[in-house]
Amino acid sequence: MADYIYTLEIRLTPDQQRAVTLVQDVARAAGMNVYLTGGAVRDIISGFTIRDLDFTVQGNALKLQKELERGGAATQSVDDDQKALHLTLPGNVRAEISMARTERYEKAGKPPVVTPGTILEDLRRRDFTVNAMALSLNPGSRGLLMDPFNGAADIEAKLIRILHNYAFVEDPARLIRASRFAARFHWPLEERTQARFDSAKENKYIEYITNKAIGYEIEQLAYEEDPLHIVRVLEKEGWLNLLSPHWTTAKMDTASLSQLMKTRQQMSEFGYNPDPAPAVLYFLTARLNDKEISDIQRLIPRKDLVEAWRDLEDNAKQLAKKLTGKEAATPSRTWKLLSESRPEMILFLEVTARQQAVVHKIRNFFGKWRQLQQKLPLPEMAELHITPLLPEYPKIVQDAFMLLLDGRLRSRTEILKFLKPLAPPPPPPPPPPPPKRGRAAKAAAAAEAAAVTGGHDTGQKKGKGAAAKAPAAEAPAKTEVKAAPKPAKHNSPSKVSKMAGKSKSKNKKRR
Ligand code: CTP
Repeated sequence: MADYIYTLEIRLTPDQQRAVTLVQDVARAAGMNVYLTGGAVRDIISGFTIRDLDFTVQGNALKLQKELERGGAATQSVDDDQKALHLTLPGNVRAEISMARTERYEKAGKPPVVTPGTILEDLRRRDFTVNAMALSLNPGSRGLLMDPFNGAADIEAKLIRILHNYAFVEDPARLIRASRFAARFHWPLEERTQARFDSAKENKYIEYITNKAIGYEIEQLAYEEDPLHIVRVLEKEGWLNLLSPHWTTAKMDTASLSQLMKTRQQMSEFGYNPDPAPAVLYFLTARLNDKEISDIQRLIPRKDLVEAWRDLEDNAKQLAKKLTGKEAATPSRTWKLLSESRPEMILFLEVTARQQAVVHKIRNFFGKWRQLQQKLPLPEMAELHITPLLPEYPKIVQDAFMLLLDGRLRSRTEILKFLKPLAPPPPPPPPPPPPKRGRAAKAAAAAEAAAVTGGHDTGQKKGKGAAAKAPAAEAPAKTEVKAAPKPAKHNSPSKVSKMAGKSKSKNKKRR
């Protein structure tokens, strides 16, 4: 159990962790049990990228909408039949929160009759064993894995297995899903699953797929890491033209799609994580006609995705215009413009731009210009106390970098000449040590006395251990005071009293 709490923490991105906390807290406050379910659990256990988060609550998930929105969630669509919310949570985390439910299929191709259920009933209505697991997010059992169909074993065996013999008849979308998961993970269908798959295909059960499922499956293509590979497999299985009647890979801009995924990878190496989904759909449908495209857009449940896809061309044109205008007249201005632009737009423009000037500027932004940052003489800057500890450090570095970009600082000497006046004043000398008190002060005084009298080290300087031995050290002090009264006389009263300390009063008594 503890293992999964740990796995949950290390496998989720910080944004996904915050998303889990938000949903968990909102559900808890509403008195609903909440679980992480479906693909997220599969990916946490298998080590694949966690693309989105699916939550299941025992209760009506729609009741959580307002509180989640208050926590920063944007609702993309609401499914009233299944009491499910499709959300974008802060940090651009895609999430679905649905009510734990039972599904009863009365007729192939017809939507199931849905009733509220327990988490175990909910796991039973799912497609494949590897997708039928839940991780508790509830106090007392957080991290507990519920795996009634032994999905973990199928992850280990790398197999896609249906939960029961009627899986494909009940929900023909599972045929497409089986091909999609098998292609993505490179896992085969388990033997009996393959037999049911073949028979469902032969009997053309896919014709019963609902429009809602088609829209959902098209949307899922946008989030694939290798969409080209997936659509090729779907085409081979005969599923692609089911999603849209004239859709083939020949109608896609496969070259741009490959370039898109490559550029996205390169951008991520520079710390930019653009969401490629809208551009993926753009290139997947590049040669479909306007009507076919708008039919597809109407079916996709996530409206933000469709909007971003629709706006791509216009936004890219605007950015291209800026990149060839005054706003990007110098490298430093171009740098600022691109730094402030949405990474999605840079990604799309990098792939589609035809103007050499635009292409060049984006390439310089990720290449040549970035390397100029290394010209900043960090050791000399440290000597000048221009370090990250300085509040103005980011601004100084940014200003120097802008001047480097525009060629207004070239040599090391020029850079240092610019930096020197910005150096902070040297730090003040360290404060004197605080005056000694108590035993330490007495020990120091005794040592001083010894030095003045030319006497021996009393041993009290040596700290705690030595101080503990103080009574033994009184003897020489006593003899010295007696034997050498003269030097003591020459000392100032304070020195004498410090030097003598306890011994002096003891000596007095003895006298
Ligand atoms: N599910 C199902 N049958 C479907 C669609 C979904 O049983 N036709 C269930 C599965 O348990 C699935 C979960 O709902 O894991 C979430 O659906 P979805 O997000 O589409 O799939 P994921 O498994 O999360 O896959 P992906 O990695 O593609 O997001």
